[in-house]
Amino acid sequence: MKTGTQYNRSHARTFRERVHPLIIRVTHWINFLALGLMITSGLRIYDASPIFGQTELPTLFEFGGLAYARQWHFFAMWAFFINGGIWILYNIFTRHGRKTTLFSPKDASGVLPMIRYYLRIRKDHPPSGKYNALQKLAYTSTALLGLLTILSGMAMYWPIQFSWLAWMFGGYDVARIFHFIFMALFLLFLFGHLVMVTIAGWGNFLSIFTGKIKVAARPVPSETNVG
Ligand code: HEM
Repeated sequence: MKTGTQYNRSHARTFRERVHPLIIRVTHWINFLALGLMITSGLRIYDASPIFGQTELPTLFEFGGLAYARQWHFFAMWAFFINGGIWILYNIFTRHGRKTTLFSPKDASGVLPMIRYYLRIRKDHPPSGKYNALQKLAYTSTALLGLLTILSGMAMYWPIQFSWLAWMFGGYDVARIFHFIFMALFLLFLFGHLVMVTIAGWGNFLSIFTGKIKVAARPVPSETNVG
């Protein structure tokens, strides 16, 4: 009689689980490119009239000057806006997004255990789904940060039409400072994100391209395993 553990995928000990739908992978990388363009062209625009004293920031947009940088900035802004909108709507209107990615009030109780785990105060990983409570919080915050970045940009680009927006940020010059701070927060997110992606390893990194990740097959109970 055959004995030993049976696995739930034709006796393979690992199989590739589908973790990121195509729409998530495509929006992720468009977002990365759009943000990269926005930040580099934005620094060129900033350099033409620095808020924090005279600074010569290194940018990719020396060639073509300010006008060229502004055109790229607005092109990337539309890409970022439309692409971000697709990502948010997908997450709001699909079970996948609501369950795995968006932070909801019931995730709040999972935040402290995850912080304790990362600080090594707690040894075992708190139970979580695809993303833990802290990841959900970070990913959901990027949507809010994107919205605030766009609103502060609108306050500067259409100061007459959106004077109420500029007023809400504390005036035109303060909206500029906020716009800069939001950009810096995106860079902070990116730094933390890259640290976590590096720690999570090669298989996880590849998953945002392929959509799949190798996981251990779970043994299934069968009469050959019993007794
Ligand atoms: C500013 C740029 C970036 C932003 C705003 C960003 C944001 C995100 C978000 C929101 C997710 C969750 C996707 C979802 O399931 O809906 C995600 C996942 C992921 N990102 Fe990024 N990302 C950025 C850059 C990068 C870069 C440069 C890499 C790789 C070098 C990367 C690697 C990954 C990986 C591997 C995942 C999969 C899941 C995980 O480990 O959390 N990201 N990213």
